[in-house]
Amino acid sequence: MSDSTQNRPVVAVFLGGASREHDISLRSGSAVIRALPAAGYEPLPVLVTRDGRFAFPPVDQPTRAEPAVPLSEAVARLESCNPACAFIAMHGLSGEDGRVQALCDWMRVPHVGADVIGSAVALDKWFSKSVYRAEGIPTPDAVLLHASDRGAQGWTGDVLARIGLPCVVKATREGSSYGVAIVRQASDLAAAAEACAGRDGRVLVEAYCRGREFSVPVLEDPQTGEPRALPVIEIVVRSHDFFDLASKYDPTLSDEVCPAPIPAELTAAIQRMGVAAHKALSLSGFSRTDVIVDERGAWVLETNTIPGLTEVSLFPKAAAVAGIPFPEMVRILVQRAIGKWKAD
Ligand SMILES: Nc1ncnc2c1ncn2[C@@H]1O[C@H](COP(=O)(O)OP(=O)(O)O)[C@@H](O)[C@H]1O
Ligand SMILES: [Mg+2]
Repeated sequence: MSDSTQNRPVVAVFLGGASREHDISLRSGSAVIRALPAAGYEPLPVLVTRDGRFAFPPVDQPTRAEPAVPLSEAVARLESCNPACAFIAMHGLSGEDGRVQALCDWMRVPHVGADVIGSAVALDKWFSKSVYRAEGIPTPDAVLLHASDRGAQGWTGDVLARIGLPCVVKATREGSSYGVAIVRQASDLAAAAEACAGRDGRVLVEAYCRGREFSVPVLEDPQTGEPRALPVIEIVVRSHDFFDLASKYDPTLSDEVCPAPIPAELTAAIQRMGVAAHKALSLSGFSRTDVIVDERGAWVLETNTIPGLTEVSLFPKAAAVAGIPFPEMVRILVQRAIGKWKAD
């Protein structure tokens, strides 16, 4: 007889979500669910629908569309399963921004990854940039525009006098390159800003860095909690302008080289930046920081608090290079979450 699944602690895996990264999260969450038994846990899929409600699909079909249940019922159902931990495998607004983390806190269930405040600050590209600046972590110069400042002169004002061209226009609270555009002509700025502004009406106009692009994953030690950088990945985008959504999830459009073929000193510098960003934003469990290196040096673009965990994603790829197979990575993250909860 196979070992009884009842004896394994339950881990609730949140996947989906009311963000544009719903489908990517379904893939991240499914990968985590598949790995949990080998990590010693019993997965309980919690599907968050595109309109932000909870459903409970069967474990062998965790992405199956199920009727959503009222919030009170979802909480009661989760509590009745007595989860030892939650693994929030959601990206972007509604899962990576602190909301599900807060739900877990209220239910007294430890969760993988950053806490409410770390999640919320890291998700917002302007708030996180302010933290990098305060901590002396190099990040491209940028200006924040508010759609509500639209006046007779237009709302982009004289931003180009400071930032120059080309520049990068970004929604403050999106991910996966949604709401990111490179502007090469001054006359295109206003339309790009208009198109990128998110629901908060805020848009970041950032100095463009022409250089090589890297990402550095950080994984905390499950015993000591010390954040350690994994091997650096270089992202070589073919044919596309930048690391856009298509290049991120179509393996033919970009090469992701890990470990990055760069001198050891540059690797160490990027790894130090990843750990510094993780600490500055007060993150926990794991994170992945995007970096561009140009002739002036290395610049942090952003830090992801719930990096993609699909079969082609950067974080698991780097973990594998470091000798940590996917189920072991999942085990480390769950152990760290439970250990931190006990220590708090
Ligand atoms: N300042 C910049 N200079 C050059 N390229 C950039 C810059 N900012 C973003 N990019 C390109 O856009 C991609 C997405 O930007 P990023 O800030 O990482 O947002 P997200 O991944 O959350 O959409 C980056 O991976 C990079 O290819
Ligand atoms: Mg990014």
